[in-house]
Amino acid sequence: MELDEIMDAAREAAKNAYAPYSEFHVGAAILTESGAVHAGCNVENASYGLAICAERNAAAAMALADPDDREIRLVAVHSPGAAPCFPCGACRQVLREFGCEEVVVEDGNGGLRRLSFERDILPNSFGPEAL
Ligand code: THU
Repeated sequence: MELDEIMDAAREAAKNAYAPYSEFHVGAAILTESGAVHAGCNVENASYGLAICAERNAAAAMALADPDDREIRLVAVHSPGAAPCFPCGACRQVLREFGCEEVVVEDGNGGLRRLSFERDILPNSFGPEAL
């Protein structure tokens, strides 16, 4: 699948964001090593701290879909409110759990920016193999 199509899945997901408090809509799409795509949007709550980001909801969708296909090749993130829209720190750690290799964001000029997860997103990270 082309990178643009994966970003399109993130754009589609952002349309379903539940963000009445921040009004910051986000969509994320995870591509697994086997080629499956799982999307998520942010879901906020009247108890503000319970908001869940699009990236973590996409990871949850992936975990539910197939226990044998939980290796993340890349995640694409879109927000109409910000380009680039980078994953927050909590989401970086959750994506790390599933071996995410790359993050793709919009560059704000109609193009995409590809970042190495290990080098640019979460260097020197803690992960499951440490335990
Ligand atoms: N948010 C995401 O869903 N993903 C990001 O990468 C950044 C932030 C959400 C959380 C909250 O619902 C809103 O955006 C504002 O922080």
